[in-house]
Amino acid sequence: MNQTGAPQRFRTRITELFGIRHPILAGGLMWLSDADYVAAVVNAGGMGFITSRSFASVRVFQAELERCAALTGGVPFGVNLSTSRHTDVPLMAYLQAALDQGVRFFETSGRAPADALIAAIHAAGALVIHKVPLLRYGLSAERLGVDAVALVGMECGGHPGVNLDVPAMLGGAIAQERLRLPYAIGGGIGTGRQLLAALALGADAVVIGTRFLAAAEVNAHPAYKQRVIAAGEDDSLVAFAGNQPMGGAWRVMANATARTVRTREAAGLDGFDVFSDLLRGTLSRDGCYRDGDTDSGMLSMGPAACFVDRVAPMSEIIDHIITEAVQCRERIDRLMPALAPA
Ligand SMILES: Cc1cc2nc3c(=O)[nH]c(=O)nc-3n(C[C@H](O)[C@H](O)[C@H](O)COP(=O)(O)O)c2cc1C
Repeated sequence: MNQTGAPQRFRTRITELFGIRHPILAGGLMWLSDADYVAAVVNAGGMGFITSRSFASVRVFQAELERCAALTGGVPFGVNLSTSRHTDVPLMAYLQAALDQGVRFFETSGRAPADALIAAIHAAGALVIHKVPLLRYGLSAERLGVDAVALVGMECGGHPGVNLDVPAMLGGAIAQERLRLPYAIGGGIGTGRQLLAALALGADAVVIGTRFLAAAEVNAHPAYKQRVIAAGEDDSLVAFAGNQPMGGAWRVMANATARTVRTREAAGLDGFDVFSDLLRGTLSRDGCYRDGDTDSGMLSMGPAACFVDRVAPMSEIIDHIITEAVQCRERIDRLMPALAPA
């Protein structure tokens, strides 16, 4: 079954690959990209990915997949698989559950996906977009046989990996010269102006996380959404920069937990035991997202929070981005005298 709705305004290699109306991918969000969120993105014309790592067992994950399929009325949606060495989740079991459910679109993030993972995805007629923080990892993934690459800049909420120097706009421009595969760029994107710029750079889509955090369909406490809305472009910080044993750089909301992490880092403290009291997933999942204490836990978020102005349905946010991109294109046309009406 295909997406229907408002007319398609931009057709790219990625809209074709995923069968979506708009070149907008909503990257996996730990604890937050559940069935409601992903279905909202898909029903609005983009592609979303349920984060498998958020579910304690394959059975609970399967139930979430079924719920998502019902919410999209059978229109395809995606699943995010973390290939990080910091996760002990049985990846292949989650992959199999998703394939059995009919999922055909996967976003991987973390280490380069193993040959066996890519082979299993392709054997089922499914496809995988691998998310990387630097082009060289994208080129490796291309050689490994993934179908598309998502290249995130240093501004991205979550893990920019070892990339603390290359913003999305620079990475996206370099990628156009070196990558053959279709690619999306992400990091700091929250407007139609940026979508059009991404397409102008050569990208086939954008990957968004932070801009969607206060969408009505995000199952998180209203106090959390209000804090995202209040945040400006300088209200995130990067912890664990250069500290690979701790999972590498992590861009989060600059809340009390994140500042305590940074204070301990500045004091030269190191090792998982030093930070474990601040990194428990339950602090963000239960303390913040469920109960509304926005100082509880490390909360992935980037500077694109500055574009979040209110709680709004996902369809409204996506429609606004597309409308703005079209208007931006018209503005560019007007800047070109040869194209302007006499
Ligand atoms: C709250 C939150 C949780 C995230 N969790 C994950 C995750 O579990 N897996 C993943 O691949 N990316 C994760 N990301 C990254 C997003 O998928 C996406 O790549 C990123 O948000 C894009 O940058 P932006 O935040 O500037 O839009 C997360 C981002 C946020 C904001």
